Amino acid sequence: MTTPNTAVESTLVENRVFPPSEATVKAARIQGMEGYNALCAEAEKDFEGFWARLARENVVWNKPFTQTLDESNAPFYKWFQDGELNASANCLDKHMGTPNENKTAVIFEADGGEVTKTTYKELLAKVSQFANALKARGINKGDRVLVYMPMGLEGVVAMQACARIGATHSVVFGGFSAKALQERIIDAGAVAVVTANYQLRGGKELPLKGIVDEGLGLGGCESIKTVFVFERTASKCNMVAGRDITFTEALAGQSTECEPVLVGAEHPLFILFTSGSTGKPKGVQHSTGGFLLWAKLTMDWTFDLKQDDVFWCTADIGWITGHAYVAYGPLAAGATQIIFEGIPTYPNAGRFWQMIERHKCSIFYTAPTAIRSLIKSAESDEKVHPDRSDLSSLRILGSVGEPINPEAWMWYYKNIGKEKCPIVDTFWQTETGGHMITPLPGATPLVPGSCTLPLPGIMAAIVDEAGQDVPNGSGGMLVIKRPWPSMIRTIWNDPERFKTSYFPAEMGGTYYLAGDGAVRSADRGYFRITGRIDDVLNVSGHRMGTMEIESALVAKTDLVAEAAVVGRPDDLTGEAICAFVVLKRGVPTGDEAKQIAKELRDWVAKEIGPIAKPKDIRFGENLPKTRSGKIMRRLLRSLAKGETITQDTSTLENPAILGQLGQTY
Ligand code: WT7
Repeated sequence: MTTPNTAVESTLVENRVFPPSEATVKAARIQGMEGYNALCAEAEKDFEGFWARLARENVVWNKPFTQTLDESNAPFYKWFQDGELNASANCLDKHMGTPNENKTAVIFEADGGEVTKTTYKELLAKVSQFANALKARGINKGDRVLVYMPMGLEGVVAMQACARIGATHSVVFGGFSAKALQERIIDAGAVAVVTANYQLRGGKELPLKGIVDEGLGLGGCESIKTVFVFERTASKCNMVAGRDITFTEALAGQSTECEPVLVGAEHPLFILFTSGSTGKPKGVQHSTGGFLLWAKLTMDWTFDLKQDDVFWCTADIGWITGHAYVAYGPLAAGATQIIFEGIPTYPNAGRFWQMIERHKCSIFYTAPTAIRSLIKSAESDEKVHPDRSDLSSLRILGSVGEPINPEAWMWYYKNIGKEKCPIVDTFWQTETGGHMITPLPGATPLVPGSCTLPLPGIMAAIVDEAGQDVPNGSGGMLVIKRPWPSMIRTIWNDPERFKTSYFPAEMGGTYYLAGDGAVRSADRGYFRITGRIDDVLNVSGHRMGTMEIESALVAKTDLVAEAAVVGRPDDLTGEAICAFVVLKRGVPTGDEAKQIAKELRDWVAKEIGPIAKPKDIRFGENLPKTRSGKIMRRLLRSLAKGETITQDTSTLENPAILGQLGQTY
């Protein structure tokens, strides 16, 4: 754990403030700071009563809970424990017989532009039918199902169908490699995989089933009895007799009705793997009751969802954002949502803006990386400038995944929101299950680059290493002092790691340590996230562990002797991956170095996925180490940034090495 350096950051004072317009406040669910403060006060006064009220109002319970929070085995908190429900019934069945029954639930726009609309009633039928197909293959409550799907309706159907029968899904992003897939299948002990023959992205057909076959072929995946294959394209793929079944075959003859299986509130709805500070990804386990409450509640609080909104979260279902704000939240809230298969730059970089116009999107939620890259495109090609599209349907904008720099914030505010739409800069994590610190559109005055204030009931604070509050204006570590309903329940198969990574004993063992550095502004007490304090990088809003990449590099045993990976700031991707590599054969130069760098990148793509490819690779005959053999990562970070080394290098065993590590390939 390192204390973040905020000395430079804190000199960047942001003076601009954008309060919500009077009309926005009036029309909002939570009106003004009075509305926000009233909810906070309610939570302070009667913490459990507050959550019990919200859980009763926002979730359909088949058996009501009698106990709100059980802290007897902290930090393994339990919420609404004796209550029973079904997540899919809370997203679909609950709308039947209401005006939402025939409302469009999903507007799907394919990579190539075809648009398909699905009503709530139709979606319920599809989910039920696929749930029956899962059951027909012997999949039951408590089983784990791995979902490796393209963005589209069928991925959501697969997740909802699992929830309907009480199976726990584990979605793996379609950009992860065969090896990554195999590791996750083994750790989750999955009994089935739901995949597609191919996925379409930017006009290209990319294999998915082929990668599944390769992953299963790596061994240790004997638990997998069935592979469901959605035929996304007409192209053929390999099918293993007895194990693999197409969607068409699996759905044939299955009823479109399926009674939802009731589960206890703590039943694991899903496991989602994310990177931590060791080489092994963590299977973050989420509950059914608490997660669902949060998904629904934050649709109402953060996005102030109205029944006529058209909501669009651009995240893939392979990430937590796609779980909370594609697969569950919008459906639980009865929204019409857009699901987009493709990429923002195909057929041109105006695609997002054109889609907002085409579908009259009113709430648009995306990542700073996407915004920054689209700014670049709009500035270099006026044909894809957002001014070319009618964006008047928009009323709320959102940002998620990484800090948004004030310049990108201002561009988003002016060019997309036309200075009328509040931007909700939502800070949260895979582990938190949903928004934690965010403005509320009808309440919070906005400050560019700040995620502002915690949601009511979220006891966020900034503390030092001993867990003591630091004053506003000084940097420290972000913690949440009290549990909340949608928090991570454990790390699948590793409760000990859950305790030690998130609830440090030095802080008393009950504060949730987010792993981010933060600072609160002196005037308003607004939070600003300054970046991770552990060995986790955030590249284009994707979380990557430096150790994971290091392990992948040194696994190339014919070439690599040693490797160290650090992050450096990058204008487009937020952070970029920089790898320092010691080869077995000495230091390469020129074309040979270029060739080896390419080989290493391809290798990392195969080991983890293309998102983990190092942008910079530097070779040396050794790494800068202390006399006790510890790699001096701080020095490597300075080198990666291109800074001249001003640090004291007298403790370095081999100072000459610094000269070698200057060349980037
Ligand atoms: C990490 C969590 C949030 C869901 C998607 C990413 C960073 C996330 C913000 C924000 C500054 C942010 C943090 C956090 N992060 N949102 N609005 N401002 N930083 O989930 O993959 O679990 O990553 O993303 O560093 O710890 P994740």
